[in-house]
Amino acid sequence: MSVKEIFESMEYGPAPESPAEALTWLVDQGDRFGHFIDGAFTPPGETFESRNPATGEVLASLTQATQADVDAAVSAARAAQGKWQRLGGPARARHLYAIARLVQKHARLFAVLETLDNGKPIRESRDIDVPLVARHFYHHAGHAQLMESEMPGREALGVCGQIIPWNFPLLMLAWKVAPALAMGNTVVLKPAEWTSLTALLFADICRQAGLPKGVVNIVTGDGAVGEMITASEVDKIAFTGSTEVGRKIREATAGSGKALTLELGGKSPYIVFEDADLDSAVEGLVDAIWFNGGQVCCAGSRLLVQEGIAERFHAKLKARMEKLRIGDPLDKCIDVGAIVDPVQRDRIAAMVAGSDGEIFQSGPCPEGCFYPPTLISGLSPASKLMQDEIFGPVLVSATFRTPSEAVQMADNTRYGLAASVWSENINTALDIAPKLAAGVVWVNGSNMFDAAAPFGGLRESGFGREGGPEGLTAYTRDSRKPKALKPIAPFGGDEAEPQPVDRTAKLYIGGKQARPDGGYARAVNDKRGKLIGQAPLANRKDIRNAVEAARGAAAWSSASAHNRAQVIYYIGENLSARAEEFAATIDRMTGARTGAKEVEKSVERLFTYAAWADKFDGRIANVPLRGAALAMRAPCGVIGGFCPDAYPLLGLVSLMAPAIAMGNRAILVASEPFPLAATEFYQVLETSDVPGGVVNILTGSHAELAPTMASHMDIEAVWSFSGADLSTEIERGAAGNLKRAWVNYAQDRDWMGADGEGRAFLEAATEVKTVWIPWGA
Ligand code: NAI
Repeated sequence: MSVKEIFESMEYGPAPESPAEALTWLVDQGDRFGHFIDGAFTPPGETFESRNPATGEVLASLTQATQADVDAAVSAARAAQGKWQRLGGPARARHLYAIARLVQKHARLFAVLETLDNGKPIRESRDIDVPLVARHFYHHAGHAQLMESEMPGREALGVCGQIIPWNFPLLMLAWKVAPALAMGNTVVLKPAEWTSLTALLFADICRQAGLPKGVVNIVTGDGAVGEMITASEVDKIAFTGSTEVGRKIREATAGSGKALTLELGGKSPYIVFEDADLDSAVEGLVDAIWFNGGQVCCAGSRLLVQEGIAERFHAKLKARMEKLRIGDPLDKCIDVGAIVDPVQRDRIAAMVAGSDGEIFQSGPCPEGCFYPPTLISGLSPASKLMQDEIFGPVLVSATFRTPSEAVQMADNTRYGLAASVWSENINTALDIAPKLAAGVVWVNGSNMFDAAAPFGGLRESGFGREGGPEGLTAYTRDSRKPKALKPIAPFGGDEAEPQPVDRTAKLYIGGKQARPDGGYARAVNDKRGKLIGQAPLANRKDIRNAVEAARGAAAWSSASAHNRAQVIYYIGENLSARAEEFAATIDRMTGARTGAKEVEKSVERLFTYAAWADKFDGRIANVPLRGAALAMRAPCGVIGGFCPDAYPLLGLVSLMAPAIAMGNRAILVASEPFPLAATEFYQVLETSDVPGGVVNILTGSHAELAPTMASHMDIEAVWSFSGADLSTEIERGAAGNLKRAWVNYAQDRDWMGADGEGRAFLEAATEVKTVWIPWGA
């Protein structure tokens, strides 16, 4: 066909990108790769093949790392870390800047190699993945530059183990490496076994950029290598991948003191209201579910469309699906490329085959490792495909009637990664966006990402954020040196045996004093062994009751911050009025004469968090697309906390106040050796207008209650500052619903000082919710 004829018919003609340069680069490397350790490539060891999924051709052989390889990489990273940190932010910024420049200079090589290795359309790797990689390094060069002035008191964690998936091989590398390096950490990164080539090219770029040796180390191999990294002497694990593996990593690192961030799967809703611009919503949906063949953790894979327009919307969608072009990923005109590997293609096909919905597929789809864009409708909300992540180009669809039903259906998932809301009505869109249980919400858009906008999930989609200043917390720690935890044993006495409850202090659940379910109490003695009183021993049933009460107090989370502040000030005022009484109880329990000071500090702390209640609210991220994303602070939900042994009142207040100031409901287990100040504190809460269920207080054995609290599916976060080191139990138990765990790893805080309050508590009490809004665009 001549150019003139093509021009006249506007017939599609392929526009393939040449793979020549990328293939030449592979040949130049000898087609066989070792690891990148301590600034150099190691000789290849036992290898496995990396294939182009679109053609099945072998691209290169990669080395399966051994324990010795992982150890060498971790040692190199450890040896390099101190010097890299001491270089200082501005010098590190220069290195990140040099990497960004080199990524841009080799942008096409990276894009073609990525497409060859992963099967994603070149249009995406060229226009989205690689530019975002460069943007990530530029943005974080800025954070390195500003670290000393903007992040006083924070320092690098040390060596970070980073394990990434195959869907955005280079982009996920950038998301992990850039913030780590900016903050002065060194890294050992493992790319996914199907897609390691751009990581190896990146290693070459690090060399060219003159990055000091050992700062970036890359080891290749399968999940077994991931396990070795997880078990190695690193200070942090950052993981992106499946929820199943994320859970295993949570369990494996429990109690180890390794920092952890998990970016896991999703089943993100794509909500279309009847007043949406339907054509835009269809186009948005193409990006939501067929971008990267739906192999996207935040893919808009669950279409929820308002009943009145469902038929029209589906008709438009099907017409659009017919026009999607599936095929050679190197063709610049292709919309949907290859699936990453035949294993994954077969997994998608099996899931679809098991569905009892109505299936519509666009065609034609080439033979081989391809899967056609698919729409499945008519499924019930509980059906497997409405709930499980398919991770392929498969959209499931359901209808809703009212906005509240839309929210309810959208949140009917164990995940909480992302959501899209489509409506031309600003009231509807901005009313719904904050109600969705998702870490990222796009208003009239989907799959927008930027280095300045925090990204990450809730629930079983994991925890931690990547991007923006919020993402840096996960790569730094408080530079104050922690003290060793000194557990305090309760004072013994004649009546130390548990006994049936008689006249005794009670638990405080749902705004009422409650007898412990088990009917047991323990004697609390003073230093000389004299009985002061009885403290109830809560059991798992009491925890369940407290959770139920806390869930019932959800209105607290949507109360205005101003109102919450008023209540907290009022608690402070009422505590102050009874200062002497509390001081006497504390002195008697602890045998020290610190009670008065402790009460005074507790009142001050309440005032501090009342002050914070309406001030820790987030920021507006300056993103290139549309100009604004709101990075808001939302409460976690229900937080369980184990109070420190020392400071029976201040310890309780130090956990309670930030939690409720940020809109959470709290279940607190009082100091184990000194529980009686907490049991008196109920009366202060009762007189301070604290709604029932917002604060629930239990007493009893921390070690016995920890597993129940940690594994409870309706608790969103657990904190422990207990004298008993509960880190292992809590972090292991937290793997169930992947709740956030904040534990002390046998380290103590200075509760009377600045260490006992502040931003760390506020950050732990909130989730960052990023809402992308149309803004001046
Ligand atoms: P995966 O979670 O097994 O793999 C991700 C990374 O973790 C890879 O580098 C892998 O080698 C490593 N890994 C595997 N087992 C490990 C272990 N026990 N310890 C440490 N690292 C380990 O994901 P996979 O098997 O490739 O895909 C399976 C499903 O996971 C997909 O169908 C999809 O549903 C989901 N997935 C989600 C991703 C996301 O971005 N949220 C990315 C990739 C997969």
